[in-house]
Amino acid sequence: MIRATLLERGLVVDGSGEAPVAADVLLQGDRIAAIGPGLHARLPAGLSLAEVERVDCSGMVVAPGFIDVHTHDDTALIDNPTMAMKASQGVTTVVCGNCGASAAPFTRDDIGHFLTLIVKKPENVAKSFGEFAGKVQAAKPAINGAFLIGHSTLRMNAMGDNLARQATAPEIGVMRDLLDQSLEQGAIGLSSGLFYPPAMAASTDEVAEIAKPLGKWGGVYTAHMRDEGDDILKSMDETFEIGRRAGADVIVSHHKCSGRTNFGRMKETLPKFTEAMKQQQIAFDVYPYVAGSTILRKEMLDRADKVLITWSDTVKNVSGRDLKEIAQEMGCSIYDAADRLQPAGAIYFMMDEKDVQSAMAHPGAMIGSDGIPFDTHPHPRLWGTFPRVLGHYSRELKLFPLEDAVRRMTSYSAQRFHLTKRGEVKPGFYADICIFDPATVIDTATFEKPISPAKGIDTVLCNGEIVWRDGKVGSGRAGRALLRQDLQKEAKA
Ligand code: ZN
Ligand code: CU
Repeated sequence: MIRATLLERGLVVDGSGEAPVAADVLLQGDRIAAIGPGLHARLPAGLSLAEVERVDCSGMVVAPGFIDVHTHDDTALIDNPTMAMKASQGVTTVVCGNCGASAAPFTRDDIGHFLTLIVKKPENVAKSFGEFAGKVQAAKPAINGAFLIGHSTLRMNAMGDNLARQATAPEIGVMRDLLDQSLEQGAIGLSSGLFYPPAMAASTDEVAEIAKPLGKWGGVYTAHMRDEGDDILKSMDETFEIGRRAGADVIVSHHKCSGRTNFGRMKETLPKFTEAMKQQQIAFDVYPYVAGSTILRKEMLDRADKVLITWSDTVKNVSGRDLKEIAQEMGCSIYDAADRLQPAGAIYFMMDEKDVQSAMAHPGAMIGSDGIPFDTHPHPRLWGTFPRVLGHYSRELKLFPLEDAVRRMTSYSAQRFHLTKRGEVKPGFYADICIFDPATVIDTATFEKPISPAKGIDTVLCNGEIVWRDGKVGSGRAGRALLRQDLQKEAKA
């Protein structure tokens, strides 16, 4: 009987940022048991070589499984438990519930428009976070999920459809209590999306008051900021203030300077991050593309050099097409065309390549895909983010060495989100592993053909079980809902 896996002769990039080391890695159960040379001759007592599956990793890097810190995979873990779009990139943990939208706790009966970003089947939402975590666990996903509670979701619970206003004191109380219960049941933090209509009218005070339980439970605060364009510096101050008042670590989501008139402004935002990081715990995530993607919004059209439609509920066969072309065919302006396509999603080309690179290379940066799992013609980041950072930005452009690229998608991410015993190849850590070819790893998903697994990702294991191998999903379904209380217990042990 096979009781352990021995990854032999690979180059271990352990996630810490240290230089690669040639070594074997022994996996036993869901943990990493040992690291070192010639382990086949030095097996732990009670384990014989006949019980070990030996995997030749010559020429390959053995790294920790990647942590996608910015996702909208809340219910994708349930609907699509093999999680091929992430496992194929080497991702073994996804942080869900970003940008203010989470699938729990959702105490209403109707899903409404906003949650369609992350929910395809209404039965996948849950009235409490505990119930939702149970649904994820029951679906046996291939990879792990950790979950933030969305401020916009809380608003929809407490305020009904009347969201274009500040919450009243009793409504703030309801939201704070829902967050408190959710953290108690295992959520790891709060996310807000003050940029989006359901939360735009919320004041700084509203969010800071709701966020109070974060300090008590050790939760993090992630923010899709109110403004990533002209007023970005003000929005950074607002975000940092909310974190300070709640006593919570801050993560700014998908940091960007949006719109042509703001190109180059990383020269202002990055030093501001550096300064603020000396005062409080702050970090940010970045995806490696000059285009963003979200719902189709008229206000965003002027900011973008080009707009591609990712889905539309009303007009068929427009997914993947340029809005300008669609408007020409309709014989109307792009604004009128946008109206006719609603509800719809879009990709916006609105960033400067140099800005994206300097953000990614900043000491505070980690990698998150922000992929949207249910789009008909998704942004290529859904399938391409991590291999693109490794192959394009690290190997080809030499933006940072391989071990630093890996660090920004593993140990650093685990530390910032308090994901205990994940993100490093180290004895005692969980056996989340990505084995890849450093010479060939690269994304193949493009804006034209976005659903395409990366090249060079050889084998991916999550909690010791194979979830991706030879270009196909594996049989491993040992992913877990990573709950705050378990993570904290393990951190103390
Ligand atoms: Zn966002
Ligand atoms: Cu997002």
